[in-house]
Amino acid sequence: MKEMVRELLGCEHPVIQGAMGFVSNPELVAAVSEAGGFGQLATIFLESEEELREQIGRVRAITSRSFGANLFAKQPLSKAFAEVLAEEGVRTITFSGGSPKAFAPLLKELGLNFIVVTATVRGAVSAREQGAAAIVAEGSESGGVQGYRGSSTMVLVPQVVDAVDIPVIAAGGIFDGRSYRAALALGASGVQLGTRFIATKECIAHPNFKDAILKAEDTST
Ligand SMILES: Cc1cc2nc3c(=O)[nH]c(=O)nc-3n(C[C@H](O)[C@H](O)[C@H](O)COP(=O)(O)O)c2cc1C
Repeated sequence: MKEMVRELLGCEHPVIQGAMGFVSNPELVAAVSEAGGFGQLATIFLESEEELREQIGRVRAITSRSFGANLFAKQPLSKAFAEVLAEEGVRTITFSGGSPKAFAPLLKELGLNFIVVTATVRGAVSAREQGAAAIVAEGSESGGVQGYRGSSTMVLVPQVVDAVDIPVIAAGGIFDGRSYRAALALGASGVQLGTRFIATKECIAHPNFKDAILKAEDTST
Protein backbone atom coordinates (compact mmCIF):
# COMPACT_ATOMS: atom_id res chain seq x y z
CA MET A 1 0.00 0.00 0.00
CA LYS A 2 2.90 2.38 0.77
CA GLU A 3 4.14 1.80 -2.78
CA MET A 4 0.62 2.53 -4.08
CA VAL A 5 0.64 5.87 -2.26
CA ARG A 6 4.04 6.81 -3.65
CA GLU A 7 2.81 5.95 -7.13
CA LEU A 8 -0.44 7.84 -6.65
CA LEU A 9 1.40 10.94 -5.50
CA GLY A 10 4.34 10.55 -7.85
CA CYS A 11 6.84 11.22 -5.08
CA GLU A 12 9.61 9.48 -3.18
CA HIS A 13 8.23 9.62 0.37
CA PRO A 14 4.57 9.08 1.37
CA VAL A 15 4.57 12.41 3.22
CA ILE A 16 1.89 14.91 2.22
CA GLN A 17 1.95 18.56 3.18
CA GLY A 18 -1.70 19.13 4.01
CA ALA A 19 -3.38 21.98 2.18
CA MET A 20 -3.72 24.99 4.47
CA GLY A 21 -5.87 27.95 3.51
CA PHE A 22 -3.72 31.12 3.28
CA VAL A 23 -0.54 29.39 4.49
CA SER A 24 0.27 26.63 1.99
CA ASN A 25 1.90 29.12 -0.33
CA PRO A 26 3.47 27.93 -3.59
CA GLU A 27 7.02 28.25 -2.23
CA LEU A 28 6.19 25.88 0.65
CA VAL A 29 4.45 23.45 -1.72
CA ALA A 30 7.47 23.46 -4.04
CA ALA A 31 9.93 22.98 -1.16
CA VAL A 32 8.06 19.91 0.13
CA SER A 33 7.87 18.34 -3.33
CA GLU A 34 11.49 19.19 -4.05
CA ALA A 35 12.45 17.36 -0.83
CA GLY A 36 10.67 14.19 -1.99
CA GLY A 37 7.28 14.69 -0.33
CA PHE A 38 4.00 15.85 -1.84
CA GLY A 39 3.29 19.57 -1.53
CA GLN A 40 -0.27 20.73 -1.85
CA LEU A 41 -1.91 24.05 -2.69
CA ALA A 42 -5.06 25.15 -0.87
CA THR A 43 -7.93 26.58 -2.90
CA ILE A 44 -10.42 27.28 -0.12
CA PHE A 45 -9.83 31.05 -0.08
CA LEU A 46 -8.91 31.60 -3.74
CA GLU A 47 -11.22 33.92 -5.62
CA SER A 48 -10.63 33.02 -9.26
CA GLU A 49 -9.27 30.40 -11.64
CA GLU A 50 -6.52 32.86 -12.63
CA GLU A 51 -5.32 32.97 -9.02
CA LEU A 52 -4.99 29.17 -9.03
CA ARG A 53 -3.14 29.18 -12.37
CA GLU A 54 -0.79 31.83 -11.01
CA GLN A 55 -0.05 29.70 -7.90
CA ILE A 56 0.57 26.60 -10.03
CA GLY A 57 2.99 28.64 -12.15
CA ARG A 58 4.87 29.75 -9.02
CA VAL A 59 5.27 26.12 -7.90
CA ARG A 60 6.47 25.05 -11.35
CA ALA A 61 9.01 27.87 -11.44
CA ILE A 62 10.74 26.19 -8.48
CA THR A 63 10.21 22.46 -9.03
CA SER A 64 9.36 20.04 -11.80
CA ARG A 65 8.28 17.46 -9.22
CA SER A 66 4.75 16.29 -8.59
CA PHE A 67 2.45 18.33 -6.33
CA GLY A 68 -1.27 18.52 -5.67
CA ALA A 69 -4.09 20.76 -4.55
CA ASN A 70 -7.05 20.52 -2.25
CA LEU A 71 -10.62 21.07 -3.33
CA PHE A 72 -13.04 22.09 -0.62
CA ALA A 73 -16.70 20.97 -0.86
CA LYS A 74 -18.19 24.33 0.11
CA GLN A 75 -15.91 26.50 -2.03
CA PRO A 76 -18.22 27.68 -4.86
CA LEU A 77 -15.42 27.57 -7.43
CA SER A 78 -14.32 23.99 -6.69
CA LYS A 79 -15.68 22.56 -9.96
CA ALA A 80 -13.99 25.31 -11.97
CA PHE A 81 -10.78 24.71 -10.01
CA ALA A 82 -10.97 20.97 -10.82
CA GLU A 83 -10.99 21.85 -14.52
CA VAL A 84 -7.99 24.16 -14.12
CA LEU A 85 -6.05 21.47 -12.24
CA ALA A 86 -6.75 18.88 -14.93
CA GLU A 87 -5.78 21.32 -17.69
CA GLU A 88 -2.56 22.18 -15.85
CA GLY A 89 -1.62 18.49 -15.51
CA VAL A 90 -2.06 18.17 -11.74
CA ARG A 91 -2.92 14.47 -11.40
CA THR A 92 -3.83 13.91 -7.77
CA ILE A 93 -5.85 16.09 -5.43
CA THR A 94 -7.41 15.87 -2.00
CA PHE A 95 -11.06 16.61 -1.44
CA SER A 96 -12.30 17.82 1.95
CA GLY A 97 -15.04 19.66 3.79
CA GLY A 98 -17.87 17.26 2.96
CA SER A 99 -19.03 14.38 0.81
CA PRO A 100 -17.39 14.07 -2.62
CA LYS A 101 -20.62 12.65 -4.07
CA ALA A 102 -21.57 15.73 -6.11
CA PHE A 103 -18.00 16.08 -7.42
CA ALA A 104 -16.94 12.49 -8.08
CA PRO A 105 -18.37 12.19 -11.62
CA LEU A 106 -16.59 15.37 -12.74
CA LEU A 107 -13.30 14.42 -11.08
CA LYS A 108 -13.41 11.02 -12.78
CA GLU A 109 -14.29 12.57 -16.14
CA LEU A 110 -11.32 14.92 -15.79
CA GLY A 111 -9.04 12.00 -14.92
CA LEU A 112 -8.12 13.39 -11.50
CA ASN A 113 -7.23 10.90 -8.75
CA PHE A 114 -8.98 12.09 -5.62
CA ILE A 115 -8.03 11.37 -2.03
CA VAL A 116 -10.83 12.12 0.41
CA VAL A 117 -10.07 13.74 3.77
CA THR A 118 -12.46 12.54 6.44
CA ALA A 119 -12.68 12.29 10.22
CA THR A 120 -15.02 9.29 10.31
CA VAL A 121 -15.15 5.62 9.28
CA ARG A 122 -18.52 6.26 7.65
CA GLY A 123 -17.05 9.08 5.56
CA ALA A 124 -14.19 6.82 4.48
CA VAL A 125 -16.47 3.96 3.42
CA SER A 126 -18.68 6.35 1.48
CA ALA A 127 -15.65 7.99 -0.20
CA ARG A 128 -14.42 4.56 -1.27
CA GLU A 129 -17.83 3.92 -2.85
CA GLN A 130 -17.57 7.24 -4.74
CA GLY A 131 -14.23 6.15 -6.24
CA ALA A 132 -11.65 7.74 -3.93
CA ALA A 133 -8.11 6.53 -4.64
CA ALA A 134 -7.11 6.83 -0.97
CA ILE A 135 -8.32 8.26 2.33
CA VAL A 136 -6.75 10.84 4.60
CA ALA A 137 -8.01 9.83 8.06
CA GLU A 138 -7.88 13.09 9.98
CA GLY A 139 -7.89 12.74 13.75
CA SER A 140 -9.08 15.40 16.18
CA GLU A 141 -5.49 16.52 16.85
CA SER A 142 -5.43 18.06 13.37
CA GLY A 143 -5.12 21.74 12.71
CA GLY A 144 -8.08 22.92 10.65
CA VAL A 145 -11.68 22.08 11.39
CA GLN A 146 -12.70 18.64 10.21
CA GLY A 147 -11.83 16.36 13.09
CA TYR A 148 -12.35 18.77 15.95
CA ARG A 149 -15.13 16.79 17.63
CA GLY A 150 -14.12 13.38 16.32
CA SER A 151 -11.82 10.57 17.29
CA SER A 152 -8.11 10.97 17.91
CA THR A 153 -5.68 9.87 15.21
CA MET A 154 -4.72 6.84 17.33
CA VAL A 155 -8.35 5.70 17.52
CA LEU A 156 -9.48 6.66 14.02
CA VAL A 157 -6.69 5.38 11.77
CA PRO A 158 -6.84 1.62 12.55
CA GLN A 159 -10.63 1.65 12.24
CA VAL A 160 -10.47 3.31 8.83
CA VAL A 161 -7.72 0.88 7.77
CA ASP A 162 -10.00 -2.03 8.70
CA ALA A 163 -13.01 -0.51 6.91
CA VAL A 164 -11.58 0.20 3.44
CA ASP A 165 -9.39 -1.65 0.93
CA ILE A 166 -7.61 1.45 -0.37
CA PRO A 167 -4.56 3.19 1.13
CA VAL A 168 -5.10 5.23 4.29
CA ILE A 169 -2.99 8.26 5.06
CA ALA A 170 -2.92 9.39 8.69
CA ALA A 171 -3.27 13.06 9.69
CA GLY A 172 -3.38 14.86 13.00
CA GLY A 173 -0.58 15.44 15.46
CA ILE A 174 2.14 13.93 13.26
CA PHE A 175 5.34 15.97 13.34
CA ASP A 176 8.51 13.85 13.26
CA GLY A 177 9.98 10.43 12.55
CA ARG A 178 8.45 8.93 15.68
CA SER A 179 4.89 9.95 14.90
CA TYR A 180 5.43 8.94 11.24
CA ARG A 181 6.43 5.44 12.33
CA ALA A 182 3.54 5.32 14.80
CA ALA A 183 1.11 6.11 11.95
CA LEU A 184 2.58 3.25 9.90
CA ALA A 185 2.22 0.94 12.92
CA LEU A 186 -1.50 1.84 13.00
CA GLY A 187 -1.79 0.58 9.44
CA ALA A 188 -1.46 3.86 7.56
CA SER A 189 0.46 3.89 4.28
CA GLY A 190 1.51 7.52 4.53
CA VAL A 191 1.07 10.70 6.54
CA GLN A 192 -0.30 14.20 6.03
CA LEU A 193 1.17 17.00 8.14
CA GLY A 194 -0.09 20.54 8.46
CA THR A 195 1.04 22.45 11.53
CA ARG A 196 4.63 21.21 11.36
CA PHE A 197 5.03 22.70 7.91
CA ILE A 198 3.91 26.13 9.10
CA ALA A 199 7.02 26.34 11.27
CA THR A 200 9.36 26.41 8.27
CA LYS A 201 11.20 29.22 6.55
CA GLU A 202 9.40 28.54 3.25
CA CYS A 203 5.95 29.04 4.77
CA ILE A 204 4.41 32.47 4.32
CA ALA A 205 2.79 32.47 7.79
CA HIS A 206 3.56 35.45 10.03
CA PRO A 207 6.63 34.98 12.28
CA ASN A 208 4.37 35.35 15.36
CA PHE A 209 2.37 32.31 14.19
CA LYS A 210 5.59 30.29 13.74
CA ASP A 211 6.89 31.43 17.14
CA ALA A 212 3.63 30.40 18.79
CA ILE A 213 4.04 26.90 17.35
CA LEU A 214 7.64 26.68 18.50
CA LYS A 215 6.77 27.91 21.99
CA ALA A 216 3.68 25.72 22.34
CA GLU A 217 3.57 23.34 25.28
CA ASP A 218 1.62 20.12 25.72
CA THR A 219 -1.65 21.89 26.63
CA SER A 220 -1.30 24.87 24.28
CA THR A 221 -3.57 23.67 21.46
C1 LIG B 1 -3.95 26.80 9.22
C2 LIG B 1 -4.52 25.51 8.65
C3 LIG B 1 -5.34 25.58 7.52
C4 LIG B 1 -5.87 24.40 6.97
N1 LIG B 1 -6.64 24.48 5.83
C5 LIG B 1 -7.08 23.34 5.23
C6 LIG B 1 -7.76 23.39 3.96
O1 LIG B 1 -7.96 24.44 3.36
N2 LIG B 1 -8.20 22.20 3.45
C7 LIG B 1 -7.98 21.00 4.07
O2 LIG B 1 -8.40 19.96 3.55
N3 LIG B 1 -7.31 20.93 5.25
C8 LIG B 1 -6.85 22.06 5.82
N4 LIG B 1 -6.11 21.97 7.00
C9 LIG B 1 -5.77 20.63 7.55
C10 LIG B 1 -4.38 20.16 7.05
O3 LIG B 1 -4.37 19.93 5.66
C11 LIG B 1 -3.93 18.85 7.75
O4 LIG B 1 -4.79 17.77 7.47
C12 LIG B 1 -3.84 19.02 9.28
O5 LIG B 1 -3.20 20.23 9.60
C13 LIG B 1 -3.09 17.84 9.88
O6 LIG B 1 -2.97 17.99 11.27
P1 LIG B 1 -1.66 18.65 11.98
O7 LIG B 1 -1.84 20.12 11.86
O8 LIG B 1 -1.77 18.16 13.38
O9 LIG B 1 -0.45 18.14 11.26
C14 LIG B 1 -5.59 23.15 7.57
C15 LIG B 1 -4.76 23.11 8.70
C16 LIG B 1 -4.22 24.25 9.24
C17 LIG B 1 -3.32 24.15 10.42
